[in-house]
Amino acid sequence: MDGSGNVNGNGTYGRKSGLKGGMACLRLLLCALVLSVSVSSLFGFHYAGRFIHKEDLCRYYYGAQRTDLHELDVKALNDRVLEVLDKLDALQEKLENKLQEMEKDKGGPGNSTEYKRYLADEVMRPLSGAHIALRQVRIPRLENGTVSGDPLVNSFVAEEIRNYVTPKGNREMKVNLYGSKRVYSTIGHACVVNRKGLERYMDYEVSSYCKDDWNLAQKLMISGCDPLPRRRCLTRGPKAYYKPYAINESLWKLPNDSNVRWNNYQCKNFSCLVSGNQKRGYFKCMDCFEMKKEKLRWVVNTSVPIDFLIADVLAIKPGEIRVGLDFGIGTGTFAARMREHNVTIITTAVNLGAPFSETIALRGLLPLYITLNQRLPFFDNTLDLIHTSGFFDGWIDLLQMDFVLFDWDRVLRPGGILWIDRFFCSRKDQDDYMYLFLQFRYKKHKWSVYPKSDTQVYLSAVLEKPLRKV
Ligand SMILES: *[C@@H]1O[C@H](CO)[C@@H](O)[C@H](O)[C@H]1NC(C)=O
Ligand SMILES: *[C@@H]1O[C@H](CO)[C@@H](O)[C@H](O)[C@H]1NC(C)=O
Ligand SMILES: *[C@@H]1O[C@H](CO)[C@@H](O)[C@H](O)[C@H]1NC(C)=O
Ligand SMILES: *[C@@H]1O[C@H](CO)[C@@H](O)[C@H](O)[C@H]1NC(C)=O
Ligand SMILES: *[C@@H]1O[C@H](CO)[C@@H](O)[C@H](O)[C@H]1NC(C)=O
Ligand SMILES: *[C@@H]1O[C@H](CO)[C@@H](O)[C@H](O)[C@H]1NC(C)=O
Ligand SMILES: *[C@@H]1O[C@H](CO)[C@@H](O)[C@H](O)[C@H]1NC(C)=O
Repeated sequence: MDGSGNVNGNGTYGRKSGLKGGMACLRLLLCALVLSVSVSSLFGFHYAGRFIHKEDLCRYYYGAQRTDLHELDVKALNDRVLEVLDKLDALQEKLENKLQEMEKDKGGPGNSTEYKRYLADEVMRPLSGAHIALRQVRIPRLENGTVSGDPLVNSFVAEEIRNYVTPKGNREMKVNLYGSKRVYSTIGHACVVNRKGLERYMDYEVSSYCKDDWNLAQKLMISGCDPLPRRRCLTRGPKAYYKPYAINESLWKLPNDSNVRWNNYQCKNFSCLVSGNQKRGYFKCMDCFEMKKEKLRWVVNTSVPIDFLIADVLAIKPGEIRVGLDFGIGTGTFAARMREHNVTIITTAVNLGAPFSETIALRGLLPLYITLNQRLPFFDNTLDLIHTSGFFDGWIDLLQMDFVLFDWDRVLRPGGILWIDRFFCSRKDQDDYMYLFLQFRYKKHKWSVYPKSDTQVYLSAVLEKPLRKV
């Protein structure tokens, strides 16, 4: 920036005495022009940028490229550069107008204080803003005609996503305890498909309070944009938070309403979540916020042969079942019961319309906030039990179900128990689903099929994973 010698190291400036306002403005104008020309020529579409519309510009640019850059990369780059060029254009216009104005009243000496303010707020600040924006453009590096480095970075415009996705090298390229030189922060590939939603979600100020939009986050996660890249803002809490009930009470007591942030739920308290309420905002588990009814589950015989009792299932392997997973939708009642048997159960929870995760945690149990897309965060052959109810029904795609079942098989230990609890599907799909369950050749301890309606059936089963000596 030749001629802007009055910009000092702190980014502030002081106007040189004796330098006439007009001259300063002219110099700035020149500076802006130089900058804008260099920006444009850097990407080789200066003239195109000036004289053709954005659509044409994209075509021009795509046509000119010799590489196999992903369409999105180039578009993101284009958008970003155009944004900077727009800013510089606006600045230029402003300076030109000001110059004309000054020429009109040549006589007046001008008010230097006002000038200073004007130059600081209206000229220098936008100029440095444009400059920073320009410096943040990460041009894809090309090696032998292909994009090197991480191609995903260039799929996004929002700076914070790019910050997150960019691999972070260790200091001095030292090898870390994992034996790698850099850390890759990952996102789900469907983040690219859901780019609009993600960019909205990622439009936040680092270190300040997050927007109250976990429901948008959840929507993205369910759509496969998982894990999410927002990590650097402060989450909002409920207005008050009283200490949770002690564990001897918390398991079977609905938490204090104040300990939940209700903003994004239809209900605003726990009493609203009862099954009789048509407007409770969720539909999956019938009575799971009514502790009186929850207390009967898995301990009292029901009229149908598909409801097994916890005591009976544990009796299959006395003392052997210690850790497990409950995969379903609910408030943690299964884990609460198992805790009384000294079994530690982690409960999966997605907050579909009600505070499932919060409730499970406030009951003194462990919620695992995970969607069906995710590989379970457990190592191979580790869990004694997987129980599933309520989530995983005959709506699920067979291939999707296969991926899930194989993952469960992976984490179950030899001799571990898979308890399928009231899985239901339509009669015509029954054989397909049965095949999926039986393909692993587990030992059948319990197996019960029961009509749900004329067209649907229930299946409950307790199966044991064999030892595979391979
Ligand atoms: C210049 O303008 C500012 C505010 O606009 C005013 O406070 C100041 O007195 C003016 N100075 C002169 C020398 O006119
Ligand atoms: C690029 O191509 C040259 C010659 O084909 C080769 O020697 C070089 O290793 C390539 N570089 C990369 C990064 O692939
Ligand atoms: C829970 O335990 C505390 C102390 O350990 C005791 O004072 C309290 O009465 C217990 N509550 C119930 C409901 O058992
Ligand atoms: C929540 O806990 C606080 C403090 O113990 C109590 O004052 C308040 O009444 C409780 N609210 C409900 C709805 O139980
Ligand atoms: C719970 O919320 C409902 C409306 O959602 C309200 O009518 C009811 O009075 C609330 N109950 C309590 C105990 O705050
Ligand atoms: C449940 O029913 C079975 C037989 O149908 C019986 O053996 C068992 O004792 C009953 N258990 C309970 C808790 O009622
Ligand atoms: C659970 O463990 C406690 C303490 O070790 C023991 O007193 C209790 O009998 C155990 N409960 C069951 C159901 O095994």
